[in-house]
Parts: sequence; C-alpha cells; structure tokens
Amino acid sequence: MKLHEFPRYPLTFGPSPVHHLARLSNHLGGAQIWAKREDVSSGLAYGGNKVRKLEYIVPDVIASGADTLVSIGGYQSNHTRQVAAVAAHLGLKARLVQEKWVPWEDPTNDKVGNILLTRMMGADSRLDDAGFDIGIRDSWKTALQEVEDAGGVPYPIPAGASEHPLGGLGFANWAFEVAEQEKQLGVFFDTIIVCTVTGSTHAGMIAGFAALEELTGVRRRIIGIDASATIEKTREQVARIARNTASLIELGRDLRDDEIQVLEGWAGDLYGIPVDSTMAAMALGAQLEAMITDPVYEGKSLAGLIDLVRSRDIPQDSTVLYAHLGGQPAINAYWRLWD
Ligand SMILES: Cc1ncc(COP(=O)(O)O)c(C=O)c1O
Repeated sequence: MKLHEFPRYPLTFGPSPVHHLARLSNHLGGAQIWAKREDVSSGLAYGGNKVRKLEYIVPDVIASGADTLVSIGGYQSNHTRQVAAVAAHLGLKARLVQEKWVPWEDPTNDKVGNILLTRMMGADSRLDDAGFDIGIRDSWKTALQEVEDAGGVPYPIPAGASEHPLGGLGFANWAFEVAEQEKQLGVFFDTIIVCTVTGSTHAGMIAGFAALEELTGVRRRIIGIDASATIEKTREQVARIARNTASLIELGRDLRDDEIQVLEGWAGDLYGIPVDSTMAAMALGAQLEAMITDPVYEGKSLAGLIDLVRSRDIPQDSTVLYAHLGGQPAINAYWRLWD
C-alpha cells in the first residue's frame, strides 16, 4: 500500500507548526534553524511524537475489538502518558508497565510530571524495578496475559510504539507534511535533526523522505541524535524499522546506508541523565526562544544540533529543521537541576 492509503485516525489538530528560531540562529552565527513542534500539535495531554505514531495504529486497535491498550516505558515515560491519553480519548482502558529506566533518585520521580498525568487519566500504571532496555520485555508480556486472564481484550503497543509494524508510518507522513509546509513558507530544509531512542520516529522520517526523494529527486540529511546511550541497539533498531517502513509503503528500493545516520556524542553515559551539553542546550533554547526542552530527549538532540551548527558540520548556508518531539512534562521530576 502507498502511504496515503493507510487509514489514519486523527488525534492532532492538523499539521504541527513550523517556525523560525531567529534568536538561536543569530546566536550560533551559522545555519538558519527552524523547529517543527510535535509538542503543541495535539490537545491530548500535551501531545508529543507518540500521538502521531498512534494515529496510524488506532484503526488497527479499533478493528481488533480490544478494550485495553497495554504498553511499557520508564517512570517518566512520555510514551505511556500518550497511550493513556489516547485510551481516555477513545474510551478504552490502559494497562501500563513503568520500569525504573533511569537511576534518577529523586523522590518525585514516580509521582510528578508524566506519571501524574497518566494516573489522572485513569490508567492502571504499575511500577516495576527493571532497568532501561528498548527491546521487548517480559513484564510487558505478563501485563498482556494478566489483562486476558481478567477477561479483557488487550492491544499490545511496544515501547515507543517502535516495534509495532505500523510504528514508522506517522513520521513517514511527517516528511510529506514538511514538503507541503515548505511550499507554503517558501523554504527548503536540507537537514533534519531528530532525537532517537526506540527508533521509529527517526526511522519513519528516513522512509518518508526516501519516498519523497523518489518523487522529487531531492536529497536531504536526516540526522538522528542518539539519546539512548546504547548506540548500537538504537542504530540497529532505526535501520531495521526504516527498512520495514520503506517496504510497507512500497518505496521500491532498498535504503542506502548513507540515509541512516544516528550520531552519538550527546547522550552522556546513561539514558535519562543529562550532561553539561544537555543543560547548556536546554538553557539556550529556553532563554533565547522560550522553547522548553527536557533533559532526557530533546535537550540532548538540541545539544547535538548546536554543536553541529557551531562546528560547521552543518554548513552556514544550510536551513535546518529541528523536530521538537515533546517531553516537557518530565522536567518536573528534574526540578533539582535548577534549584
Ligand atoms: C520527547 C521525546 N523525544 C524523543 C523520543 C525518541 O523517539 P523514538 O523513541 O521514536 O526514537 C521520545 C520517545 O522515546 C520522546 O518522548
């Protein structure tokens, strides 16, 4: 099937807004930087990138007759918050496994921000001591079984919705949305910067921009900035999901290796723990643009963007699009960083 033939259940207000970051661009003195804002494009519990992925998964949920979405993430998972939001919106239940993915020993970590919103929305959210892993977990399989044993009909949504067969479609479509917005705004983004952890956001973009390249012949750099600190797993997962998504939308060719670029250097040693470059990037975004980013994901990809622009790895005559994927509710659990 071609991308536009896949059913899409609307969960957003429409195309996410795109705007110029003039003060940040001037400050860095290099490429012009714009942002496309997944953080302000849905009314469902502050939105974020998973809402866009779920737009392509919900038709399958409805067709399956499920009554409970079952998913997994860390204590401060944006993903499980968005699954809880979509469940509430559709009148379904949500059963969530929230693992201790981050050794952030703040007493508020399992109480405020994302997990607070998740609980408010009525999800059955249960804490688990297991550490960070982007793969398929036993605790999630157990949760699925428990829903069935209790007479429910579970619908499995893996971490970040990434390993779901349809998980890459939302951001494949993002590429076509960008192309439309470029026409309206009279700009061309030669470089896209995106944070990558479980992989299907970046992977979907790779497949979508490859499909666009087939139509227009125009190439761009789609740079993933790793925030997982488990780079090999993330690279492998991005490449696999990008190829699966490309074949799902009938790209008609294999992806080239140069189309799959996940850069390391800004994740620090551990997922979820900010480093100096994260803090500096969050401060710049907030103080020059009032663009709020979080210390787990977007602060790290913004740090990557800043360094690539400063070092001229992204040339001065480039126009860059920074994909802002949401994630701000987590900052509440990180209050100590600014205390
Ligand atoms: C705010 C935010 N940014 C980036 C990501 C990374 O996206 P993905 O898991 O699709 O690689 C996530 C989710 O993991 C997220 O919640």
